[in-house]
Amino acid sequence: MPGTFDRARGRALTREVSPEFADAVSSYFKTREPDFEAAKRSQEAYFAALRAHGTEVVTLPAIRGYPDCSFTEDTAVIIDDKALIPNLGHPSRDGEQESIAEYLDDSFEIARMPKGATLDGGDVVFYDDRFLVGISTRTNREGASFLADHAKEAGFGVQLLDVPESTLHLTTVCSSPRTGTIVAAEGHLRSPDLSFAEEIIWIPAEESYAANTIAYGDRLIIAEGYKKARQLMMDAGFSVTTLEMGEFREVDASLTCLSVFIG
Ligand code: GLY
Repeated sequence: MPGTFDRARGRALTREVSPEFADAVSSYFKTREPDFEAAKRSQEAYFAALRAHGTEVVTLPAIRGYPDCSFTEDTAVIIDDKALIPNLGHPSRDGEQESIAEYLDDSFEIARMPKGATLDGGDVVFYDDRFLVGISTRTNREGASFLADHAKEAGFGVQLLDVPESTLHLTTVCSSPRTGTIVAAEGHLRSPDLSFAEEIIWIPAEESYAANTIAYGDRLIIAEGYKKARQLMMDAGFSVTTLEMGEFREVDASLTCLSVFIG
């Protein structure tokens, strides 16, 4: 019997932007110094958009010493009534997951990853009957294998994908907004790797950042400023809300990075 993962997005666990945000890890998109106040404003708009789509937003305080701490997607993977708590793949981020685990402990069975295994939740995309897990600079095979054991126990499949050097996480260039559909960035992912998908919406390489989406049925949230991607999504039958993500993009973070959906 398949597991009970669904796309309800009833509750999101989030965290305030760190006052040390300017020091967040950034290896791909950075063009200038990221601005804390602007990031806070973007995050407020993001919270408002989630609420407007029916999500209850829970926000934990920022943690001192962790400039990336608002990217809660990386800190837990929920499979049914279990919360998998990873060892994060970047040394400056490992530790962010502790207070997330503490928070989730009331409602979920906590499963801790063994030492040496690493995984960022940003390398995990749920597609229908399986979890796609990116092997990246953050997620190693041991980390993927830990997730696979739990996913399989819950009745899901697991498919590994190599995340190319051109990008940080699998979710940076890939999402699954509805059953049967994958949104993928050209130049980063290849068709043969996604042959399981019934429909692939390819985002042109120059707008690859817009391949990261959050969907509520046929209502979709994408980053602002990606006209071709927006049109492609509308052509595919989605109504589209866009959000300004410029500050977060400076530190390689996308829409999904800002929350982990826990219900
Ligand atoms: N700045 C986001 C990350 O490197 O994980």
